[in-house]
Amino acid sequence: MDLNKEYIVDILRYNNEGYGVCKVDNFIVFVLYALPLEKLKIKIDKIYNNYALGHIVEIIKESKSRILPICPYFYQCGGCDLMHQSIEEQLKFKIDKIKSIFNKICNININLDEINSYNTLNYRNKVIFKVNNDKIGFFKEKSNDIVDIKQCLISNKEINNNLTKIRNFIKENKNHNISEIMFRVCNDKVMICIDNINDNLKDKFIDTFIDLESIYIKNKIVHGSKTLIQNLDNFKFNVSAKSFFQVNTLVAQNMYNKALSYIDKSDTIVDLYSGTGTLTILLSKKAKKVIGVEVVKEAVRDAKENLILNKIENVEFICSKVENAIGILRKENIDAIIMDPPRSGSDKKTLKSILEICPDKIVYISCNPITLARDYNILKEKYNIKEITAFDMFPNTYHVECVCFLESRKS
Ligand SMILES: C[S@@+](CC[C@H](N)C(=O)[O-])C[C@H]1O[C@@H](n2cnc3c(N)ncnc32)[C@H](O)[C@@H]1O
Repeated sequence: MDLNKEYIVDILRYNNEGYGVCKVDNFIVFVLYALPLEKLKIKIDKIYNNYALGHIVEIIKESKSRILPICPYFYQCGGCDLMHQSIEEQLKFKIDKIKSIFNKICNININLDEINSYNTLNYRNKVIFKVNNDKIGFFKEKSNDIVDIKQCLISNKEINNNLTKIRNFIKENKNHNISEIMFRVCNDKVMICIDNINDNLKDKFIDTFIDLESIYIKNKIVHGSKTLIQNLDNFKFNVSAKSFFQVNTLVAQNMYNKALSYIDKSDTIVDLYSGTGTLTILLSKKAKKVIGVEVVKEAVRDAKENLILNKIENVEFICSKVENAIGILRKENIDAIIMDPPRSGSDKKTLKSILEICPDKIVYISCNPITLARDYNILKEKYNIKEITAFDMFPNTYHVECVCFLESRKS
């Protein structure tokens, strides 16, 4: 294979990140923005041990599922991956991806024909923009160059309104020293956090954004409330600048409802990797008792405040690594384990303890089907997959969320 040569290829399928897969001289090549069944002229950019990366030079035969990206920044900005695919194609890609991962890792065919999709634009409730002089936007894919953007179509509309304001502010005020801006929106109220600012501009900055619910400068609150409040069901949740909250609130609510549907009134539940206790607290209305386990101290503090805010008495939180706390939980009579680990998944020690405790039900929530399948490969010793439900939590990107309901064979 030659880096300077052009090749005519047929795209066979997608890889897990939505690149088109083809073969050149019997070697696997991942082609950016290519779709299955397309005939393309490509060039190779980089060759690794097991595969190469390439880009499209010319589309000879185009897929019917290729569309003109709705966002003018799509091909430069590293934020979205799939805007060149129709939404139907994106959803099909995600279903096929989950199925093929389970097939490859666990050697099983899972039952999955659809994916729940609710909102494809303006869904992100939290965004971090990079700033350099008078440019504001996202880094280009695999680079530190900023793509200067006026609007981000997947971000909440309130974030875009304030992006225009901050864009004007950095243009009018040179030497501002801001390099990162985080926006968060809950119940249409906006929080803005900046990493730094020239002391002379601090008051002007606060004046410009005085209508917002909350302003942070260098991790310190300088105006408004310390936290935002997000309503879910009949509960209220304090969301602070640093706490984890699902980025797509509408889809999160539906995903939580799916998890709740597996729970009975008499259940004692352990919610592993509980974050700021959003799901733990939602579970409290459906279960007898819930114990949340989370390693980040600040998240547990927020979770405990959320208990008080919602006057909840059948929930407790343990601040610990799951792998260290799961042993203590053996004493409890656990009916169900809910687990929602980070992308890296759970660990062998935890999974072994779960197999020993062997509750009747496990609800495994995951934003990474690869680690979900890897962990199920261990849990399958005692559990069957009863249902797996996919949610398009991150439309226009290759990411996908799953709720996997496992039932113990003893029950
Ligand atoms: C995907 S979030 C889950 C949040 C929560 N279920 C929700 O819906 O808001 C994963 C959480 O696991 C926590 N975490 C990561 N590794 C952990 C570990 N080893 N033990 C306990 N918590 C951990 C992270 O701090 C994060 O809050």
